Amino acid sequence: MAERPVADRPLADRRTIELTVNGRDRSADVFAHHTLLDVLREDLGLTGTKECCLVGECGACTVIVDGRSVDACLVLGVEADGSTITTVEGLANPDGPSPLQLAFLETGAAQCGFCIPGQLVSAHALLGDVPHPTREQVEEGLAGNLCRCAGYEQIIEAVLAAAGSAGRPLGAADLRSTPAMDDRSATPDAGVAPQ
Ligand code: FES
Ligand code: FES
Repeated sequence: MAERPVADRPLADRRTIELTVNGRDRSADVFAHHTLLDVLREDLGLTGTKECCLVGECGACTVIVDGRSVDACLVLGVEADGSTITTVEGLANPDGPSPLQLAFLETGAAQCGFCIPGQLVSAHALLGDVPHPTREQVEEGLAGNLCRCAGYEQIIEAVLAAAGSAGRPLGAADLRSTPAMDDRSATPDAGVAPQ
C-alpha cells in the first residue's frame, strides 16, 4: 500500500512531556513538531520568551535549558522532555527584581524592549558562569542577542553594573532561586519583560 502524501498525514501527533520550568514541574501535551518556543508560549503561557527570526539568529527566544543558554526556536519541545528550564519569568528574586533586572532599568537598557527578555536570560547565564566579567566577556556573552534599537551600550553597562552591584557571585543558587517567580506565569511579562 502506497504511503500517504505528507500533506495528508495527520499533524495531531502529540506527546506528553514533563519539564521543570522556573522551579515548577509542568506537564504538557504538545505537538511533536512544535519547538520549545511554541511549547513555552502556547502550551505553558510563558510569553516573555519572544518569537522573532525562528532560525537562531536573533536570540529573542533565549532560555536556559539544563544550565545552558539556548535558542528555544531551534529545539523541539519533545527534545526538551525532562529538562530544567529557566525563562525570563524566572529571573527575579522572590522579593522583587534581581540586581540584573534593576540594572537594566537603571541604565535605560530597554528601548522598544523586544530583545530584552533574551538579553536578560543570556546575561543571567553569563553571570552564572562568570560572576565578574570584563566588558569583552559581556560582549561575547551577548553576541547572539541582537537589538534592533541598537541599545548595546546601555545593555553592556547594565550587565557590568549588575556584576559589580550584586556583592556576591551569581551562581547556581541564583539559577535555582526561581520557584516564587513561577507564580507569575499568569502574568508572564511582569517586571521588566515587555510584551
Ligand atoms: S527567534 Fe529564536 S533566535 Fe530568533
Ligand atoms: S530594545 Fe528594541 S530591539 Fe532591543
